[in-house]
Amino acid sequence: MDLSSVRTEVEGRVATVTIDRPEKRNALNGVVRRELIRTLDDLESREDVRVVVLTGAGEKAFVAGADIDEFANRTPLEQRAAMEGRRVFDVLAQLPKPTLASINGYALGGGCELALACDIRIAGRSARLGQPEVNLGLLPGGGGTQRLPRLVGLGRAMRLTLTGELIGAEEAERIGLVDEVVDDDALRARTRELAASIARQSPLALKLIKQAVRASAEMPLSAGLRLERELFVTAFSSEDRVEGVAAFLEKRAPDFRGR
Ligand code: COA
Repeated sequence: MDLSSVRTEVEGRVATVTIDRPEKRNALNGVVRRELIRTLDDLESREDVRVVVLTGAGEKAFVAGADIDEFANRTPLEQRAAMEGRRVFDVLAQLPKPTLASINGYALGGGCELALACDIRIAGRSARLGQPEVNLGLLPGGGGTQRLPRLVGLGRAMRLTLTGELIGAEEAERIGLVDEVVDDDALRARTRELAASIARQSPLALKLIKQAVRASAEMPLSAGLRLERELFVTAFSSEDRVEGVAAFLEKRAPDFRGR
């Protein structure tokens, strides 16, 4: 695919998607959003890709938020139109493959929300995260008011969104906004290692696990437990389950095919 602002590299079974506008701190304009959706649609259908990593180009930013230049010249109706249709945050959250945000610098506003839509967040020690929309007289519009409290709790989400303050990677880890912090120069390697370890698993099991865990944010416990049982039986009927159990008993590594 010939895209101007999003690069994709596939190594092993891991696709790394890089938002590539470092001169604008990888801010999300219409082009980046469209290209990200196209990229994610393509990766969904690729059987050779089992895990997707999202990161930003350059040393300074993961994504510094929505492109504020675009806000300046829009009418409310144009803004509404821009927010209709498929949203990149939802496409990312619903991708039936595990996603990792590799946070290499600022993850602000829509950048923090992209990270929130990923399944696992790993950050370099100098990364800074926050929802500073309040400083523009706005609120988070990419899921921040909904996904952030589900991840860190109501009080912490209120603090971040009402003050707009940025927090460092270590505080983000302490409150559960990121899952792991590593030295900046180790971020790429650690992300690759984590992604590769997940990519060795059955893609079918990964898909079902993601579906079940994500559903927990949307349904009552009893319904979630019913869903889990259904998905467990689905996994149980797969060739990958037969292979996984056999490999364990034969003391060898499994060769999962996704069937
Ligand atoms: N939208 C549009 N352009 C942005 C941007 C954004 N969200 N974030 C950064 N940029 C642009 C800057 O305007 C500047 O462009 P210029 O060189 O043409 O003037 C360029 O990226 C570099 O930004 P700069 O502020 O010089 O870099 P920095 O490293 O000193 O600071 C940030 C980085 C991210 C702290 C700072 O750019 C910032 O606060 N950005 C806005 C964050 C925000 O409020 N996001 C939420 C939007 S809802």
